[in-house]
Amino acid sequence: MSNGVPDRHRHVPVLLERCVTLLAPALDEPGSVLVDATLGLGGHSQALLERCPHAVLVGLDRDPAALDLAGRRLAAFAGRTHLVHAVYDELPEVLDRLGHTEVRGVLMDLGVSSLQLDEVDRGFSYAVDAPLDMRMDPSSGPTAAEVLNTYPAADLSRVLREYGEERFARRIAELVVRERAREPFTTSARLVDVVRQAIPAATRRHGGNPAKRTFQALRIEVNHELEVLGRAVPAAVEALAVGGRIVVMAYHSLEDRIVKGVLTPQARSTAPPDLPVELPEHAPVLRLLTRGAETADEAETGANPRAASVRLRAAERVRRRSTGHPAPGMARESARGSARESARGSARGSARGATRSAGDPAGSVERDVEGDAA
Ligand SMILES: C[S@@+](CC[C@H](N)C(=O)[O-])C[C@H]1O[C@@H](n2cnc3c(N)ncnc32)[C@H](O)[C@@H]1O
Repeated sequence: MSNGVPDRHRHVPVLLERCVTLLAPALDEPGSVLVDATLGLGGHSQALLERCPHAVLVGLDRDPAALDLAGRRLAAFAGRTHLVHAVYDELPEVLDRLGHTEVRGVLMDLGVSSLQLDEVDRGFSYAVDAPLDMRMDPSSGPTAAEVLNTYPAADLSRVLREYGEERFARRIAELVVRERAREPFTTSARLVDVVRQAIPAATRRHGGNPAKRTFQALRIEVNHELEVLGRAVPAAVEALAVGGRIVVMAYHSLEDRIVKGVLTPQARSTAPPDLPVELPEHAPVLRLLTRGAETADEAETGANPRAASVRLRAAERVRRRSTGHPAPGMARESARGSARESARGSARGSARGATRSAGDPAGSVERDVEGDAA
């Protein structure tokens, strides 16, 4: 047991020092709001609360088990933490309810935590035979088994190709459809077996477990990870005060492409090339703090395999947006509007949207954010 978190759930935070170095300069004023949009087991949050004694944390996670463990870990900071059960594209509503008009820091450490990978029953790992679930919020939405057993072959194939970048997507999808007619899929070992059979023998021999890409694709589909991320990053940038900073760590190219696609264009002038002077509304909204995407060094990847695929991007907000110039990605619909849609579309757990103080680790509801907590 360390910091209230059982050792079996030890999640080693990736690029911890770098995240603190990037965010801390924005968090030195009393009451500076830091959003950890992917609280997980609270490792990054703990380091930031220690290093930034004036900061107040709003920690979000869609996984109630992660919130409970993070609550225990952060109990010593209970007076300056609000832990909220929410999907991160709901950030604007969460901030509204907490009365924060802007924030000074946002951290997003995407993907799954060790807690989710290690809890065999959650079905995230292809290495152990377990029920095919893969929902980060076990109270909401269809499971991986439901996706496998109900999607038409064409849709399954698209999911595997787009989200798993799987070359043999069609072969796998067709075999899944044949196999499920014999008996529906329930556990991971059978899926691993079917993927192996669907892939040509020559390919099977290299590149690690061939089921890895299929599992990644199913997880992304089950949790709508890319759609949610595509709304959340613009919303996080909009929430930043001038001088506020955002740090995002992605773990595969699909996520990183979305992050880059939001941050990089906003760090460029939008002045038409033939305009002799840049008008204030054409000036960049962000200043990039990283050159391209940063990765972890050999020492860190040797000690923490999760760090091997990280791509970190960071930016600082340098000006307010002029009225009438909506943010990229938010032009047609505000992120808030989209978040509401997504919230309506998903089954809501009883604790969903409830705020907890970290000093209340058992998860008792301190304040009902959404008004629908049981
Ligand atoms: C990599 S872990 C974060 C680990 C954390 N930085 C730490 O140091 O312990 C990612 C966490 O984000 C959560 N998560 C992933 N997608 C989310 C989303 N769309 N909304 C809210 N939480 C999300 C997962 O449930 C998981 O707990």
